Amino acid sequence: MNKDSFSAAALPTLAAAHFLDDTDISTGELKTLLELATAVKQAPADYRRSLVGRSIALLFEKPSLRTRMTFELAALQLGAGAVFQDHRGERIGEREPARDIARNLDRWFDAIVARTFSHQTLEELARWSSAPVINALSGSSHPCQALADFQTIGERFGELEGLKIAYIGDGNNVAHSLLLCAARLGVSFTFSGARGFEPDSATMRRAAELAAVGGATIAVEPEAQAAVRGAAVVYTDTWTSMGWEQETQQRRIAFADYQVTDELMAAARPDAVFMHCLPALRGQEVSDSVIESDRSVVFDQAENRLHAQKALLLMLLAGR
Ligand code: CP
Ligand code: NVA
Repeated sequence: MNKDSFSAAALPTLAAAHFLDDTDISTGELKTLLELATAVKQAPADYRRSLVGRSIALLFEKPSLRTRMTFELAALQLGAGAVFQDHRGERIGEREPARDIARNLDRWFDAIVARTFSHQTLEELARWSSAPVINALSGSSHPCQALADFQTIGERFGELEGLKIAYIGDGNNVAHSLLLCAARLGVSFTFSGARGFEPDSATMRRAAELAAVGGATIAVEPEAQAAVRGAAVVYTDTWTSMGWEQETQQRRIAFADYQVTDELMAAARPDAVFMHCLPALRGQEVSDSVIESDRSVVFDQAENRLHAQKALLLMLLAGR
């Protein structure tokens, strides 16, 4: 499908009411969303009136550069408005119950974008909101990041099916979302990190079941050099996610063998790219030379947050 396949007047829609988890959208919807993201990137002006008069609330319990800016900009470029509520000082549900916040917001807004510590906070907002709730990162997943990442991988390699991602480091929220999307897009995923920091076992099992349908594999390989063999993508993220700061020192020691270096990149496919959701700590999970190298597509990923989230907002809101 190319960009001409999407008429701004008749955009594809998502069946789910909310986007809390990667699997809230079907594999078919995921592929359509990635195609729409490409179309929106190629011809942004075609969509500048698609959400005129709509309003989006952003509630963030944690800091953000990319997610906040790209959702606000996405709204602006689609003709909608965005209002930001800073919840860093006081978690959602602290001053008043999340169910009351949801029932206020859905009287005013067409969508609620929330970044939370607990995934249950998102579920509680969604339970009480008729306006779609979008996961802007929780302790357990980061589905908007995965959308932009697979858009980026598709741009670089054309076909996704048959590729392999080696994920080095902490089996965190970003890893969970990559796993669940890779599995459904025919992309194999090998995790390599310190013992005890693997992705959640239920997510690994679910990803393995989904991957089996399309012939991709999900694996754990403790040796980073072995894990990157044959990989088209070497992906890493911070060793210490927001909310885990008390473990920073322990994690630095545990992950000492899992820095993405030039030597590690050399063991991957010759055309392999380096990916990171950012922010990155140079000298920890990645060397300065790798993140600054020609192989690094981290700013393509960041750019695509805008386009992928525009596609998400269009599919959630344009038809409602
Ligand atoms: N990658 C990402 O979500 O970045 P922010 O934390 O800056 O939003
Ligand atoms: N895993 C990181 C991602 C930041 C965008 C965190 O949760 O802090």
